Amino acid sequence: MESRKDQHVRLFEKTYQTHQTNDFDSVRFVHNSLPELSLSKVDSLTTLPFGTWSSPFFINGMTGGSEKTKKINESLAHAAAATGIAIASGSQKAALKDPALHDTFRVLRQVNPNGFIFANIGAELDEEAAKQAIDMLDANGLQVHLNASQEVVMPEGDRDFSSWLKNLERIAHSIDLPVVVKEVGFGMSRATFRRLIDAGVQIIDVAGKGGTNFITIENQRRDRARFDYLQDWGQSTVISMLEAQPYLDQATFFASGGVRHPLDALKGLALGARAIGVSGIFLHTALSSGSEGLITLIEEWKQQMNEIMLLLGCASLDELRRTDLILSGTPDQWARLRGPKPEEMATRSQRIS
Ligand SMILES: Cc1cc2nc3c(=O)[nH]c(=O)nc-3n(C[C@H](O)[C@H](O)[C@H](O)COP(=O)(O)O)c2cc1C
Repeated sequence: MESRKDQHVRLFEKTYQTHQTNDFDSVRFVHNSLPELSLSKVDSLTTLPFGTWSSPFFINGMTGGSEKTKKINESLAHAAAATGIAIASGSQKAALKDPALHDTFRVLRQVNPNGFIFANIGAELDEEAAKQAIDMLDANGLQVHLNASQEVVMPEGDRDFSSWLKNLERIAHSIDLPVVVKEVGFGMSRATFRRLIDAGVQIIDVAGKGGTNFITIENQRRDRARFDYLQDWGQSTVISMLEAQPYLDQATFFASGGVRHPLDALKGLALGARAIGVSGIFLHTALSSGSEGLITLIEEWKQQMNEIMLLLGCASLDELRRTDLILSGTPDQWARLRGPKPEEMATRSQRIS
């Protein structure tokens, strides 16, 4: 029988859309014809509470748990090692139950002995499971995913989410590596940020709507009682980052979900994210062009991010965070109802020094 993880990868590829529009299209930078800067002065390194990454994007959590996904992990890890970007594992829950699956995850460390690797579990697990997942990979950090929307549409999914916040609180207080709490493509709200921060969580990946959609994927695994009408559930990555504005100095934010190219990544960083997680396009590239194709793409992203920063006249990510952003469409409407005022985002360079 095909494992659930193999089904996810197959259905991901089947539903992957290259030219999907999303809310990143409703955020614009203002072109300035006089950048007054040289590419040699542009540096996109990102400063994080636990150190510095030379590139502000990473391969977000996806696979492991089967022979096929072991090969995918090998390919992703090879690309991460060759380009020096961080990588996250897919959920290790299956391997915590079945030691025979350990090597489908451990390959991440074998191929990438010196790289930054996040272990990955769901919030239904406790701090003991968190420690085991970290040990399995000799990981540098931990991701804990929140996937209630996915579970509800998953035919065999969990229906009891009542222990998640308690588990997160215990994990945040007992793990002394960086702990990132992430969504899986449905974004987050201000109320969620407040509760995570109060629980002691210091790094939050909003993982919003706009790219891979696990409601669509799980819905295809259902024979009946389908959730066809739920495809638009959740907050986009842009809207989640608008929600994050009041909390940017209380936690470190990562933005992910629907990042298609370097310009989207820069918009996420301009909205206050310290790093950008990329899943869909990197997985699709690894599946269609192998790790060499992915390495080429990652190197192009690094170069083009610096070139667009040059165009914007920004020598650093701090400067990028002060650029004016023009919102339109749904993000503009959302911001008018819940803040921040779109007029302030559009003129913030005049206020933030
Ligand atoms: C095939 C596949 C499997 C995934 N499995 C996991 C997982 O095990 N744990 C997790 O935290 N996120 C998982 N994700 C979600 C991604 O980390 C990310 O949040 C989501 O795909 C949105 O980003 P994207 O639009 O760049 O794909 C998975 C994504 C894909 C495509």
